[in-house]
Amino acid sequence: MEKTFLMVKPDGVQRQLIGQIVSRFEQKGLKLIGAKLMKISEELAQQHYGEHKEKPFFNELVQFITSGPVFAMVWEGENAIEIARQMMGKTNPKDALSGTIRGDFGLTVGKNVIHGSDSPESAEREIQLFFKAEELVEYDREI
Ligand code: CMP
Repeated sequence: MEKTFLMVKPDGVQRQLIGQIVSRFEQKGLKLIGAKLMKISEELAQQHYGEHKEKPFFNELVQFITSGPVFAMVWEGENAIEIARQMMGKTNPKDALSGTIRGDFGLTVGKNVIHGSDSPESAEREIQLFFKAEELVEYDREI
């Protein structure tokens, strides 16, 4: 079954949106198999956002993601990566449709509430970066 890495960013945690965001993925039918509230170190931030290293906003990105706690999660389900991306909406909240998380809760591209893996390769990489194997819980669930 496909797994994806999702993370409520510091702005979402500060604004107490964790519950509403988790609720959306639960209602959709995805299965939560790992979650933790944590502060990201500078080193982890640089690894996580390594592909953006040359971008002009890289330092701002690292500074923001390390500025306060994030809520890191792993969700599982058929087509979990694509489904979660549709539910998050476009990266820039100004382009994200109403009904999506960024469309409903976000205002600017930097503080866009949530991060989600964009491909199977990044999902695998990001899950390994943030979670130890024993932190992921496999269980049966009736839908
Ligand atoms: P995320 O899905 O976490 O992946 C990379 C992040 O870079 C993206 O969400 C945005 O929050 C952020 N980002 C993209 N473009 C800009 C920008 N122009 N200025 C600041 N942050 C940006």
